[in-house]
Amino acid sequence: MKITGATQLAGIMGWPVAHSRSPLLHGFWLAESGVDGAYVPLAVRPADIERALRALPALSFRGCNLTIPHKQAALAIADRVDPLARRIGAANTIVVAADGSLEASNTDAYGFRESLRDGVPDWDAALGPAVVLGAGGSARAVVAALADAGAGEIRLVNRTLSRAAAVAADLSTAATRISTHSWGEAGAVLAGAGLLVNTTSLGMTGQPPLELDLSLLPFAAPVVDIVYVPLDTGLLAAARRRGHPVVDGLGMLLHQGRPGFEAWFGAKARVSRDLRAAIVASLGSLR
Ligand SMILES: NC(=O)c1ccc[n+]([C@@H]2O[C@H](COP(=O)([O-])OP(=O)(O)OC[C@H]3O[C@@H](n4cnc5c(N)ncnc54)[C@H](OP(=O)(O)O)[C@@H]3O)[C@@H](O)[C@H]2O)c1
Repeated sequence: MKITGATQLAGIMGWPVAHSRSPLLHGFWLAESGVDGAYVPLAVRPADIERALRALPALSFRGCNLTIPHKQAALAIADRVDPLARRIGAANTIVVAADGSLEASNTDAYGFRESLRDGVPDWDAALGPAVVLGAGGSARAVVAALADAGAGEIRLVNRTLSRAAAVAADLSTAATRISTHSWGEAGAVLAGAGLLVNTTSLGMTGQPPLELDLSLLPFAAPVVDIVYVPLDTGLLAAARRRGHPVVDGLGMLLHQGRPGFEAWFGAKARVSRDLRAAIVASLGSLR
């Protein structure tokens, strides 16, 4: 990467931030597009997030991504919050507008939808209820994406039932009914489902395995795991053995970065085979 006097700047704010793959992702697109830009990690303590965000226009940054623990705090700081980020209750992308104001959005739902489209192009919400495991931050984005894709029924399963109830209260609409279920019901609610998505951290390296009896899940239902370390989780391996179409967590990770890149740097961001290979190679060091 060459830094010049005209280099356009963006980055990612997190605490910690060193684990983030985003600098590699955006660095790949910058090199591919030939844009004179740089995307840097910004280690920002929780107490400093407002000052750090407000400094973006003063420092001529085009914007930034946000990761843990700043995604909720940014909603209260930004000058404008897009309706999807408001529904999800978190923002992961900030764009500095021409007048220096801060626009917050959430691209995780977009990333999930695009990844699903790439992995199972013929999936349709009308195939049956979607079962979502988990009710954390990423579950909110997945549920919003499924509702916007036309899901009429979402069965939300979580260890802490009150957390699932809060997601259902925030994201149910007239067109999308969200029922909530305890972890013990996970196997039973797979009956008749048209999609299964894991958004819990179970199955991630260093976390307990996700143990789930898939026997009631219709064979045509795709199984998605948004965990990406490891990429081939135990859930995906079990689903593949039963013949389900499977989608790993890499596509969501890559696609969620595209809207920010395009807004900051004014160039197209493509999810290519080369990009996947570069990020997979970097994930190896996290296992
Ligand atoms: N592919 C991508 O782009 C992408 C994007 C975001 C996140 N992710 C991955 O998604 C996973 C979740 O992230 P998040 O931000 O949503 O995390 P989070 O907000 O902390 O939520 C964690 C979820 O996992 C559940 N959970 C954790 N330990 C459990 C256990 N022992 N038994 C049952 N449930 C358990 C939690 O249940 P409780 O509510 O009961 O605690 C909660 O539903 C992580 O692996 C993350 O890396 C991937």
